Amino acid sequence: MSKLWGGRFTKPTNKIVEEETASIGFDYKLADQDIRGSRAHVRMLASSGIVTEEERDTILDGLSAVAEKLKAGKLTFSAENEDIHMNIEKFLIDEIGPVGGKLHTGRSRNDQVATDMHLYLRDHTEAVISLVEEVQKAIYTQAEQNVDTLIPGYTHLQRAQPVSFAHHLLTYFWMLDRDRGRLLDSLKRTNISPLGAGALAGTTFPIDRHQTAEELEFDRVYPNSMDAVSDRDFILEFMSAASIMMMHISRLSEELVLWSSQEFQFVELDDSFCTGSSIMPQKKNPDVPELLRARTGRVYGNLMGLLTVLKGLPLAYNKDMQEDKEGMFDTVETVEAALQMLAPMIETMTVNTGEMTKAVSEDFSNATDIADYLVTKDVPFREAHEVIGNIVLTAIQQKKFLLDLTLDEYKQFHTAFEADIFDVLKPSEVVRNRNSYGGTGQEQVRRQLEEAAKSFE
Ligand code: ARG
Repeated sequence: MSKLWGGRFTKPTNKIVEEETASIGFDYKLADQDIRGSRAHVRMLASSGIVTEEERDTILDGLSAVAEKLKAGKLTFSAENEDIHMNIEKFLIDEIGPVGGKLHTGRSRNDQVATDMHLYLRDHTEAVISLVEEVQKAIYTQAEQNVDTLIPGYTHLQRAQPVSFAHHLLTYFWMLDRDRGRLLDSLKRTNISPLGAGALAGTTFPIDRHQTAEELEFDRVYPNSMDAVSDRDFILEFMSAASIMMMHISRLSEELVLWSSQEFQFVELDDSFCTGSSIMPQKKNPDVPELLRARTGRVYGNLMGLLTVLKGLPLAYNKDMQEDKEGMFDTVETVEAALQMLAPMIETMTVNTGEMTKAVSEDFSNATDIADYLVTKDVPFREAHEVIGNIVLTAIQQKKFLLDLTLDEYKQFHTAFEADIFDVLKPSEVVRNRNSYGGTGQEQVRRQLEEAAKSFE
């Protein structure tokens, strides 16, 4: 079969070179975007007088026929036609004859592929943003139901101070809120049209880049044709935002794995999100959060891969840039699947309030509150800290918790202790009293929920 670019060549392409230089094995995923770009391009060619209206209509009909046949699985892509752009052009010419060859006037695959990538990433960034919102809603709903559920708060994975479970969960809500912000912001740079930049230098034809940009709903056009064809920042930005988001998802996943272990038993993931063991009948494994944690690595890898591909490239287009695609597709697909699993997994998760309550009653995480109590009795905080340290040590030695000591015992450590000490020791009080702005006190958590609800507006 002759190549679309075969005129200058005297020999056929070496077989393995043909296979390896072809990108159709993965860029077939851009078929829809490629056809959308071509439609806009040929309409512009006609309104600029570069092709006739009749030719435009023939080409538009041909593109629709190709789109339909592709959808029906009636066309087979071939490596001989290298990539999605030339495969579709070839299908078009097969469909409508040589007039199909006019479509590529004033255009190059370099601006064409960049256009396809911009369209693809815009479509998928919007989809990812909606999926992030779904996860946020699932987190919000669980939080709303667990304002009064207490869980140990940790630092260094050591029990620190009890917190409202809603407060803990909402932390992830805000992480995802920033992720959504980053993705939204990246759209400003993704939604720019490279179409009409040509191979690198523009074109001799009187094209109208603003017309195609408008039809394709781009916000603006690249002001520099060389930048238009060599810019892949928008993909890097998506990948960076995705990497940060996956880091958040991985932290949440790690907590879900820990919490659903026998040692914690704070939550139980729904059976439909777990798998069993082929040998140990008792096992119920949290595969989904484990996979999400692991797939974070793929997303980071894709980002590092593309940064590395681009770092040494002279302007403008280089074949190296064809290697931008698999990482981009993989990032999009990985992130979309992660979010699609995460939302229902959080929704269906059972919160084991019994174990959480037990945990917060059987530790020393109210120690800070006794120190704060002494401060209210005019003891300097540093002195109070030392006194409570001694109380904790004694209690540990006697195998007691702070609520088990009597007022007399407290008085032996400091004369400032009075009967009201027991009011501040209960975990529910410990949480309630942290009413500083953004703190875990239930009143603050309710205010936080209101603010979270507003972030969707
Ligand atoms: N398949 C190519 C890519 O993905 C399209 C652009 C090819 N341009 C070229 N001058 N060979 O990058």
